[in-house]
Amino acid sequence: MDIKIAPSILASDFSVMGETVKKLEASGADLIHCDVMDGSFVEPITFGGQMIKNIRPLTKLALDAHLMVEHPQTQIKFFAEAGADIITVHYKACNKISGGYLADTLRLIKSYGVKCGAVVNPDVPVEHIFPVFPLCDMVVIMSVYPGYGGQKFIGDVIPKIKKAREYAVSIGRPELDIQVDGGVTEENAAEIIAAGANVLVAGSAVFKSRDMAATIAKLKS
Ligand code: DX5
Ligand code: ZN
Repeated sequence: MDIKIAPSILASDFSVMGETVKKLEASGADLIHCDVMDGSFVEPITFGGQMIKNIRPLTKLALDAHLMVEHPQTQIKFFAEAGADIITVHYKACNKISGGYLADTLRLIKSYGVKCGAVVNPDVPVEHIFPVFPLCDMVVIMSVYPGYGGQKFIGDVIPKIKKAREYAVSIGRPELDIQVDGGVTEENAAEIIAAGANVLVAGSAVFKSRDMAATIAKLKS
């Protein structure tokens, strides 16, 4: 499978976001990972649909909106209309509302013609989202607790990545995108890919490096 790198703009300087997005495209990034935080599901607040709308005309890359928000259904319209290509929502945010909320949210995202994905935190068994795999364009395994960039990769999630890929194969979706988000580095990327992930989010690894293109190429290989 092709490996895709999704740099997280959370780790970048928000005052020069337009330039950053163009640089990422020139550096070989495959998606732009946009960490949306609401100050409730996670402590910090980052940005909303306005950011997606403003960077949309600056790049052809897919914009990957990772919604770390309570009540994600209330936000889908804004991110879809702003131009997100994929919107991912957290199992934990959905499940606390009702059992059917996650599937309904994924269907709502699709109704806008936008790709959708479900996200599990490090302490949520991936089996909890098996029922929605058929609805998902991507599943996301968090390898840190959401809220902050620059955290250390939680190695315990490796078996979950394997289970996710095995289950995707078993339901006839061998090409399902499996994204790993948090603490991805040049050192652990090979292990994450070997476990079955094909989309790696990288915030600090890309933005703290001197040569973004070289780092993205190394993460892919
Ligand atoms: C964590 C975010 C991640 C994070 C990744 O809440 O969802 O996308 O920004 O950043 P690094 O790669 O620095 O862990
Ligand atoms: Zn993220």
